[in-house]
Amino acid sequence: MPIPEQPVVPFSTVLRTASSAEHEAAEQSSFMSRLLGGHLGVEAYADLTGQLWFVYRALEDRADELAEHPVAGPFIDAALLRTEAIERDLAHLRGPDWREGLTPLPATAAYVARLEELADQWPAGVIAHHYTRYLGDLSGGQIIRGIAEKTWGFERKGDGVRFYVFEQVDNPAAFKRDYRAKLDAAGLAMDEVERRRVVEECKRAFQLNGAVFRDLDTRYPLSA
Ligand code: HEM
Repeated sequence: MPIPEQPVVPFSTVLRTASSAEHEAAEQSSFMSRLLGGHLGVEAYADLTGQLWFVYRALEDRADELAEHPVAGPFIDAALLRTEAIERDLAHLRGPDWREGLTPLPATAAYVARLEELADQWPAGVIAHHYTRYLGDLSGGQIIRGIAEKTWGFERKGDGVRFYVFEQVDNPAAFKRDYRAKLDAAGLAMDEVERRRVVEECKRAFQLNGAVFRDLDTRYPLSA
């Protein structure tokens, strides 16, 4: 009888390890460092939030369809949905007409195009992006929220930072544990080639985020 191919390292660990350099690069990017170091005004924060709206709309618009997919399906969870929270933040940051004049930067458009392509052609690949964004929002996102509240005076967990507030996630540590278990199960259901493809897509997800930060960074030139 052939021995089934069993990964030695849990898939959640593989993803975290494989993307750690990309994570560090995103964390230390010029835009993030300047933003979280208090060197940029609230308009840069609003600008980031506006770009995230395009990204999350692309991630979430197809949720009903993805929920039916054997690999992506288990990850689709109403408790994570961010689009509405971002819209409330944008109404606070940009006013009731927040949609007017809001356009995706070239890097955001490329990120959205990749998400749409995956939903159409390789739904299993969506999990790489789902992990990169939502597990990040539940982790480092909480640090970003705290700094944003202090730096620009938003009410704690209120308008302006609702994107980072997961009201339906009571216990983030337990949620992340369960999420990693889902990643591990997804990894077991894939063959090695498919696992590698997902890992590469995860790195790409981080790079797409990094490119958005670079585009945003050029909008706010360093003052002399
Ligand atoms: C300055 C910005 C950032 C800070 C301070 C930060 C910080 C952190 C910290 C402390 C953790 C570990 C939390 C834990 O183990 O529970 C974490 C995890 C994570 N972050 Fe970030 N992060 C930042 C930016 C980002 C960005 C831009 C992304 C992706 C777009 C991202 C994606 C992730 C992911 C996916 C994890 C989960 C890793 C895992 O345990 O598998 N982070 N972040």
